[in-house]
Amino acid sequence: MAHIGGIMAREQVFSCTVCGATQSKWSGRCDACGSWNTIVEDSPLATGPGKALKRGAALTLTDLATAEAPPPRTEAGVAELDRVLGGGLVAASAILVGGDPGIGKSTLLLQAAARFARNGLKVVYVTGEESAGQVQMRAQRLGLTESPVKLAAATALRDILSTLESEQPQLAIIDSIQTMWLDTVESAPGSVSQVRAAAHELTSFAKRRGIAVVMVGHVTKEGAIAGPRVVEHMVDTVLYFEGDRGHQFRILRAVKNRFGPADEIGVFEMTGKGLIEVKNPSALFLADRGAPVPGSVVFGGIEGTRPILCEIQALVAPAAPGQTRRSVVGWDGGRLAMILAVLDARAGLSFAGLDVYLNVAGGLRITEPAADLAVAMALVSAQAQRPLDPQAVVFGEISLSGGLRSVTQTENRLKEAQKLGFTAAILPTLAKRAASTGLALKEMPDLAAAVTGHLGET
Ligand SMILES: Nc1ncnc2c1ncn2[C@@H]1O[C@H](COP(=O)(O)OP(=O)(O)OP(=O)(O)O)[C@@H](O)[C@H]1O
Ligand SMILES: [Mg+2]
Ligand SMILES: [Zn+2]
Repeated sequence: MAHIGGIMAREQVFSCTVCGATQSKWSGRCDACGSWNTIVEDSPLATGPGKALKRGAALTLTDLATAEAPPPRTEAGVAELDRVLGGGLVAASAILVGGDPGIGKSTLLLQAAARFARNGLKVVYVTGEESAGQVQMRAQRLGLTESPVKLAAATALRDILSTLESEQPQLAIIDSIQTMWLDTVESAPGSVSQVRAAAHELTSFAKRRGIAVVMVGHVTKEGAIAGPRVVEHMVDTVLYFEGDRGHQFRILRAVKNRFGPADEIGVFEMTGKGLIEVKNPSALFLADRGAPVPGSVVFGGIEGTRPILCEIQALVAPAAPGQTRRSVVGWDGGRLAMILAVLDARAGLSFAGLDVYLNVAGGLRITEPAADLAVAMALVSAQAQRPLDPQAVVFGEISLSGGLRSVTQTENRLKEAQKLGFTAAILPTLAKRAASTGLALKEMPDLAAAVTGHLGET
């Protein structure tokens, strides 16, 4: 305990609102995750290092074998949602749905609530952000007023848990975790310790009562409101709802799932009547492609178990002296720098003195290294002012040596390309023959060969 002016002061704790790390001193930058201006004062933990625990009771240990069936699942009947959940909603699970403010989280969950209710689940939707009237207005706009979802506007978690205890729903939606407030925690709603405590209560309630609890979490860039990452480790499933405000596409992405594969995505379109599922995202992402232009390449990608084709666009322009720009939307900036360096060192193509803009069309965000070759081809095509064969899809990972590495699910990628009418694929040399898809396979040993073979002088 510190003494200040003879009065015993409470120990102070500072927490990062992005990653939840705690430290004893304030600083401008979080030591754990490197975020700036995210360290805020927080109430200290009741226990911690140096406070010895009393002796506890002995645990009963069991074997790994179980006679229990896998946890029951309920499908929403919306393929794009069920796939991301790993095949439907699991009872007694805690799910976090994170996303930027205004991206459509409440819309998604109100529609999901209505679907699950229609499929026989008892559903309670608690809003701490809006009035009941506002949610009813949304329900009206979405045509869901007939759905048997029960609604409450509340933020006191004690009342909410008591209500859920007596109502016994199978699914409870809490919108949002940052507005929830527990009277046993001193700090303000939205603080790291409130958000953490509220998520902990809701998660253990879900396990104890066998209900599925979905919590909404706003992504916060800075300030005193804790972000969803603070509770990611507590919940079973973490979904992020992403999208670009300028586009109507929305992507629901599983980043963690204890009951199914992660990395699955669901694709939706935001309309005035709510979110509509997109069953053929490749067709959608390629819909705006016009006449062949330099810098445009179709990438044969995979998201989770599903192949998705999308257009990668590059633009190269002379830079103002001394200030070259590298601008990336939908891909990793560090990875772009690497591709530029490899193009320079291994294929003799320098982008020095040039501004480079890279964009994944449609607001999709790609994380696969398989996009390397498509990005490189787009860059070279833009610089050379030569369009690539518009009937070809491209994929492959580039190594620092300038070699091409084969990627997972090659056949899935090729099949999707064939389905959408493509006739050729530019890809790394295959270790074994791919099943025939009717596509002309342009297998390339390295980056230099791919570049000269498809965009070189003829
Ligand atoms: N009348 C409307 N017509 C079309 N789209 C609408 C309409 N009203 C809202 N939207 C769309 O819904 C989005 C807001 O959805 P929603 O409130 O579900 O988002 P949210 O992520 O819950 O936001 P918040 O951060 O405010 O909780 C808007 O950005 C807009 O795209
Ligand atoms: Mg909302
Ligand atoms: Zn941090």
